Amino acid sequence: MIYLDNAATSWPKPPGVAEAMVGALTRAGGNPGRAGHRLSLASGHIMYDCREALAEFFGAPDPLGVIFTQNATHALNLALHGLLRPGARVVCTSMEHNGVMRPLRALERTGVEVAVVRCGADGVLPVDALAAAVTPGTALVVVNHASNVTGTIAPVAEAAEVARRAGALLLVDAAQSAGTLEIDMGRMGIDLLAFAGHKGLLGPSGTGGLVLGASVDPGRLAPLMQGGTGSRSEQEVQPEDLPDKFESGTPNFVGIAGLGAGLAYVRERGVAAIRAHEMKLAERLREGLLRLAGRAPGVTVFGPADPALRVGAVSFTVDGLSVSDIGFALDEEFGVLTRVGLHCAPAAHRTIGTLPGGTVRLAPGPFTTAAEVDAAVDAIAAVVGRLR
Ligand code: ALA
Repeated sequence: MIYLDNAATSWPKPPGVAEAMVGALTRAGGNPGRAGHRLSLASGHIMYDCREALAEFFGAPDPLGVIFTQNATHALNLALHGLLRPGARVVCTSMEHNGVMRPLRALERTGVEVAVVRCGADGVLPVDALAAAVTPGTALVVVNHASNVTGTIAPVAEAAEVARRAGALLLVDAAQSAGTLEIDMGRMGIDLLAFAGHKGLLGPSGTGGLVLGASVDPGRLAPLMQGGTGSRSEQEVQPEDLPDKFESGTPNFVGIAGLGAGLAYVRERGVAAIRAHEMKLAERLREGLLRLAGRAPGVTVFGPADPALRVGAVSFTVDGLSVSDIGFALDEEFGVLTRVGLHCAPAAHRTIGTLPGGTVRLAPGPFTTAAEVDAAVDAIAAVVGRLR
């Protein structure tokens, strides 16, 4: 089997992730922050250690500003619903995932003004168009750091400058970039960062978070839900303390133990080394597909030509063939696992011209090998030859 669906969720996980999760159940296991007994304190330590490591990893000012969520979508919803009120203006890009577009379209119905900046056919965000759209008084700018469809990387530091000039906050969707691209919120000017724990950070599903920068007033961010936090229990109103304001209910400390182990692996191997590995494989994949395109007209490979502008995900289509048929044949006949279709990102597919059919997406990860990429390219050539 060749797993090329790391943009959906990374697999396999590094050594240590499963062990940390078992350890959280067997050596810890109490409800964190709910009691003073040793098993509760042990779970609480797991959570705090991971919060601290994440804050340091993302260049965030305060571990308590790391709010754990179920996934990146949950974090994006918290930021968008928490910050935007009727009458507010928000600007996003046409490469956003539905994790951004769906909450924004729902907020639009409540009177939030949504402007979408059109990216190029390769997914590249034109900063001058963004600057024109971000008018003074804009409350929020949302930028997809790396596209889950084309891998295209957004110019986040430039977007931050645009937002700062207009007095807007910048929310970055780091679902595809956390663990794969260097992120320093302070240096890059990111106010809010939504991340997935189960993709580039190599943790389990059910983990993610929203990280607040120094410029964000948590008093302006409304929680998505209210409930027990283990703190200020005499009050029937939600506490304002971080992170409790945003983390009601028993947290996923077992998943967070796994996320801590995934993050430790990423930090030890190094983001730069992981990026170099994925880019080498993505280039190999792209070159293989472009060679195939030379022999088999109608094969189109998407995304910017410049590897510096891409993460590992590579999308392609074949004229006259359904992406589902290609994906099915790759899995059934060659054990090559891809994700086909719209990848929950119709806006991105509209931008690159692949709506409604979508693309076949190949996403190598930190444990993919060059031999697997070569085998996948050969399998694609065989499938395209046979289906045509
Ligand atoms: N958004 C994830 C993907 O691109 C699930 O596959």
